[in-house]
Amino acid sequence: MKKLVKNGIIVTAADTYEADILIEGEKIAEIGLNLPANGAEVIDAKGAYIFPGGVDPHTHLDMPFNNTVTDDDWETGTIAAAFGGTTTILDFCLTTGDRTLKEAVQRWHGKANGKAAIDYGFHLMLANMDDKVMAELPLVLEEEGITSLKVFMAYAKEFQADDRTLFRAFKAAKEAGALVMVHCENGSVIDELVTRALAGGHTEPIYHALTRPPEAEGEATHRAIELAHMADSQLYVVHVTCAEAVRQIAEARSKGYKVWGETCPQYLVLDQSYLEKPNFEGAKYVWSPPLREKANQKVLFNALKAGILQTLGSDQCSFNFNGKKQLGRNDFSKIPNGGPFIEDRFSILYSEGVQKGNLNLNQFVDIVSTQPAKLFGLFPQKGTIAVGADADLVIFDPEVKRVISAKTHHMNVDYSAFEGMEITGEPISVLCRGNFVIKEKQFAGKPGSGKYLKRKKFNDGSLQAQTTAAV
Ligand code: URP
Ligand code: ZN
Ligand code: ZN
Repeated sequence: MKKLVKNGIIVTAADTYEADILIEGEKIAEIGLNLPANGAEVIDAKGAYIFPGGVDPHTHLDMPFNNTVTDDDWETGTIAAAFGGTTTILDFCLTTGDRTLKEAVQRWHGKANGKAAIDYGFHLMLANMDDKVMAELPLVLEEEGITSLKVFMAYAKEFQADDRTLFRAFKAAKEAGALVMVHCENGSVIDELVTRALAGGHTEPIYHALTRPPEAEGEATHRAIELAHMADSQLYVVHVTCAEAVRQIAEARSKGYKVWGETCPQYLVLDQSYLEKPNFEGAKYVWSPPLREKANQKVLFNALKAGILQTLGSDQCSFNFNGKKQLGRNDFSKIPNGGPFIEDRFSILYSEGVQKGNLNLNQFVDIVSTQPAKLFGLFPQKGTIAVGADADLVIFDPEVKRVISAKTHHMNVDYSAFEGMEITGEPISVLCRGNFVIKEKQFAGKPGSGKYLKRKKFNDGSLQAQTTAAV
């Protein structure tokens, strides 16, 4: 089973060059000029870029949340991801105090098994760090090849961890060789602001943003950074949205702290005014942290460009407008938090980043694929195009113009957060471990063909860019 990708331009985080790629089975066997077919299936990629498959480090598929459950499961979510150029996702496995960690991971395997159309791994979310969890944690991480934890500083009524829990997570991660991912917002202050807003009769979606100010993100980011540093551990700040948080990360990195950061496409192109759309349409844009004032978009792009933020996660967490978002019709705090982004992450970064001159091609690949693969223990199996790597490839038309719409997307949700947005560039064919998942814009994969990835331990070695330019 051989395939030969001919005539394309290979783009990695380091290089851009013309060459053919020979795939044997699941791996890249050879890269070179004018490689002979010798019976291989030839894929003509003339005029296309060949990117490594996208690695999305932040998804929530089939996840119970805010008294409901997300509308994309592991089948619809991973198929949509593949249409968008992503071949690996890392999803958050929720744990609860009343089950063992092992049971929680088994439950998450049950959601993905037989459904995932691309490769995947799990981050382990920690609800508490009591002695029972502390004892079980290293065993589960080792057995499952999980090398990242998740702690929430927000969601006072659901997930919020206190500082002791967070500190214990950092300590345990240091010992186990794991990276701690933290949702940085001050949940207690937000809870108080929400209570006050509702008491004042403010029930509209815009109050979701007004009760979660950027200072609440900046403060929590600072606290997480200092707790990680006190524990001599490592921190990955998820979904960074604003200058207040970027500033904290830039300062910590300039001091040599082991801190990395992620932003998401929605924060690069949408702003707080979307929550003011009439007829409750603002609810479509309710997620946390909330959309910010427009000026933050440039700050985030600059931070990506300077290496202060390293990755783009989708934070896919989709809820239909009809039936789900409507749960908060009379109370913004009951609107399920999250949106549909898994399919558009890759192309939005290409269009808004490369096409608009905010990023070069290699920076684009680094952010959308290579850096998440490195930080989460998957590189060089994932995240690059190299001999011996998995043949995860995106054959990408860099010139085509198109309009994003719920009418044409593949996510199982009745609206698009980017409805009507004109972008340039589209994945034409997508291969995961040498097999077409998307062929000529049609689904050609199989639910269940995605493989669970056991990952390498966290390594903060010289592979990570340490740029700390000021914003
Ligand atoms: O609103 C969001 N982001 N929903 C998903 C859960 C989280 O906080 O990442
Ligand atoms: Zn979050
Ligand atoms: Zn999330």
